[in-house]
Amino acid sequence: MGNKMWGGRFADGPDAIMEAINVSIDFDQRLAMQDLAGSRAHAQMLSDCGIISSADVAEILKGLDQVEQEIVNGTFPFRRDLEDIHMNIEARLTEIVGPAAGRLHTARSRNDQVATDFKLHVRERLVAFDEGLKQLQIALVNQADANADTVMPGFTHLQTAQPVTFGHHCLAYVEMLARDRSRFMDAHARAGQSPLGSAALAGTSFPINREQTAKALGFDDPTRNSLDAVADRDFVLETLSAASICSIHLSRLAEEIVIWTSAQFNFVRLPDKFSTGSSIMPQKRNPDAAELVRAKPGRIIGALTSLLVMLKGLPMTYSKDMQEDKEPAFDGMDALDLAIAAMTGMMADLTVNKPAMRDSAGKGFSTATDLADWLVRALDMPFRDAHHVTGRLVAAAEAKGCDLDGLTLDEMREAEPKITSEVFDVLGLDNSVKSRTSFGGTSPDNVRAQVAFWREQLS
Ligand code: ARG
Repeated sequence: MGNKMWGGRFADGPDAIMEAINVSIDFDQRLAMQDLAGSRAHAQMLSDCGIISSADVAEILKGLDQVEQEIVNGTFPFRRDLEDIHMNIEARLTEIVGPAAGRLHTARSRNDQVATDFKLHVRERLVAFDEGLKQLQIALVNQADANADTVMPGFTHLQTAQPVTFGHHCLAYVEMLARDRSRFMDAHARAGQSPLGSAALAGTSFPINREQTAKALGFDDPTRNSLDAVADRDFVLETLSAASICSIHLSRLAEEIVIWTSAQFNFVRLPDKFSTGSSIMPQKRNPDAAELVRAKPGRIIGALTSLLVMLKGLPMTYSKDMQEDKEPAFDGMDALDLAIAAMTGMMADLTVNKPAMRDSAGKGFSTATDLADWLVRALDMPFRDAHHVTGRLVAAAEAKGCDLDGLTLDEMREAEPKITSEVFDVLGLDNSVKSRTSFGGTSPDNVRAQVAFWREQLS
């Protein structure tokens, strides 16, 4: 049997393998709601411009409502022989309303249709990412508030460097996520033009009103070049690149959770509802959700890579290659969605083991820089000399098997005779973090000020 949509030119139906490679309904049915919205806007515009009758548009709109009901109820008869969501909906509309349905495809093509549907879908996802990240930021700000003066070791090279506060650490991620959100919103703004009405590639001879359909679909305005409009997938590329960067941020936090929940660190405890047990080792509480968030960039960057490679070198305008954009893009966006939600769940109910963090912060001579700074300030020593004296004191403490504040004043004076007992004031962890008052520093006062800043931003 010839194809319903282009049967005029074809005597034979497709080979089974042709159908198998050509079909996209299995995945592009996710664009059903966007496709319906596009058809409604287009039909209304055709009638307003006098291209089809108001009786026809009434039939079409009524039929589209029924199609929507069938899709929502799960009774819509998706047919693989009708290839994609656009032809499935149009064919079903024809069954429901008869000849009026045949007028809907006036002045449009599946090429501008698919570009419009996918752009609408991506715009919705961008808004959802932004909202999801906001919720994660709120969870992080709450932790920062509760832990503005919780001392933990700050690391470079995963070696204890200087004491910081857990609140400051949480707010570092709030900053990253703010940049992610602004990238998603930038992508949203640049995806603000509607392709609908570009038709197959060249525009149309019908007197359509593209401003009207653009506005009806929530776009800012119509695209200015019909060739670009049907060939462009930048909006997906941008979304997936921003998603890739975001997923990297989430994976870094996920990795920290994996480290922190280990018995060796024991800094935090995940809520039961975000931990898993082991089928063989009863003592285990595994951070599976964090590990999976850590793993998601593989799929998301993979999606970006596969779209970049698919588009590379494609001549103007639409090519069927572009149908391959959807599966990876859906998968990548779904992966990010889930990663954000899982991270929000973990961060919201994470319990912090303050004594363990403090204990660990005191190890590894983490206040050595404070000692060097004190030598500069109190003894007017050049920083390089202070660095050297401090190094000798660290070596002495190491030899003695104690921390810097475990050395006696006499032992300190062997390295530098001018040292006074006031040095012990800067060696404590609390003194150390309190003194980091430079803008952007880890002092509890700064952290509280930043918490206030973010509460305002997020309200
Ligand atoms: N299913 C197609 C896609 O996803 C829709 C556009 C097809 N256009 C065409 N002329 N074959 O890209």
